[in-house]
Amino acid sequence: MVNIERLQQLSGIIGNSSAIQQVIEMITQVAEVDISVLITGESGTGKEMVAKALHKFSKRSNEPMVTVNCGAIPSGLIESELFGHKKGAYTGAAEDRQGYFKFAHKGTIFLDEIGETPLETQVKLLRVLESGEFMRVGDSKMMYSDVRVITATNSDLETEARKGNFRQDLYYRLKTVTINVPALRQRIEDLSLLVERFALQFTRSNDIPYRGFMPEATRLMKQYDWPGNVRELKNFVESILVLEKGQRITVDMIARQLRPVKIPVNPNLPILVDRSPEQAEREILLRQVFLMRQDIQDMKEIIGGKTVLNPIDEIQYLPHAATEIQPVPDSMNGENFPMIRGEAIGDMTLEALEKEAIMRTLQHFNNNRRAAARSLGMSERTLYRKIDQYGLERKIKGRS
Ligand SMILES: Nc1ncnc2c1ncn2[C@@H]1O[C@H](COP(=O)(O)OP(=O)(O)O)[C@@H](O)[C@H]1O
Ligand SMILES: [Mg+2]
Repeated sequence: MVNIERLQQLSGIIGNSSAIQQVIEMITQVAEVDISVLITGESGTGKEMVAKALHKFSKRSNEPMVTVNCGAIPSGLIESELFGHKKGAYTGAAEDRQGYFKFAHKGTIFLDEIGETPLETQVKLLRVLESGEFMRVGDSKMMYSDVRVITATNSDLETEARKGNFRQDLYYRLKTVTINVPALRQRIEDLSLLVERFALQFTRSNDIPYRGFMPEATRLMKQYDWPGNVRELKNFVESILVLEKGQRITVDMIARQLRPVKIPVNPNLPILVDRSPEQAEREILLRQVFLMRQDIQDMKEIIGGKTVLNPIDEIQYLPHAATEIQPVPDSMNGENFPMIRGEAIGDMTLEALEKEAIMRTLQHFNNNRRAAARSLGMSERTLYRKIDQYGLERKIKGRS
């Protein structure tokens, strides 16, 4: 059996999370065995990389791997593409044509988006899977291909099979060995490593100087939910490096480009109509975070832990500080608190959030302290004290 580290190195699959390590371990276990494998996972999670790794570490690695995107081939053509056709099979079939199963003989065929194949074709696929036998379109002669079949899908085949959109028998046949590639948000701890690698690759091959990402920038990226997974992350890293050519990537640059995680808007909060949607969303987020601050403070006091505070040197979008990490009560990770993702907790001090919230609220109310205090739910006296404490006087004046 191939060694896990070696496989990871040679396949280029990045990640230290236990989720991705499990995927890699699975690959080492099944790569060399001549069985079909179903790879599931959202789009952009790396299913094709897994398929390539399976082939690369199989006994068939010296033969080709033929990749077929079943979702991209019109249903009227798919059988001819997969199995080939005989001259005269239909109008326009001027020549005999070999299909992908023939090309892949002795090698591997990777059927991507298998859920998209028409039901009629699925019968034929089941047959090839079971016996290697197939017939070209318009031919009555049985052909044979010695091929290992790897399939992938981002749809829930079980549900599709139950609804009758996918053949049950084929589904059971395919799912025997399933590798599920988790979404990036489920292994967000891998983000830094991925960002670093993508950034290095991209800047090197495009002769762009690379000065790295600030830790706060990476932290903010970890709070986004990456619906397009690693593919989206890679594109994002590349585009930001182009936009900010040669500069060290700061949290502000990220905040400008990245739409934050969708936030359920609290109906009690004022909607900021004079703001762009992004600004409004950000302000709402900050207000909510700020409102939560009090609860967190209370909880901390209940837990009885002490917090080591960090001096704050700069106002940031989502500030960080290496505070002593308090155990987070379970209730805070759940649906009741969708505002802060689990990973973010421990990365921000209440002080930094408070400072930011006060500063922005003051700006919002054109420095009207009474209005700001009311909006923040604190007495004016407290607000004055905080303004002093955080040196906001200077900052606000300096800006206006
Ligand atoms: N773990 C990973 N390490 C490095 N690159 C990855 C990883 N996962 C995905 N990628 C990259 O992300 C992009 C999408 O991967 P791909 O295998 O095509 O995803 P899928 O087939 O699931 O849509 C590719 O550029 C791929 O190289
Ligand atoms: Mg793909």
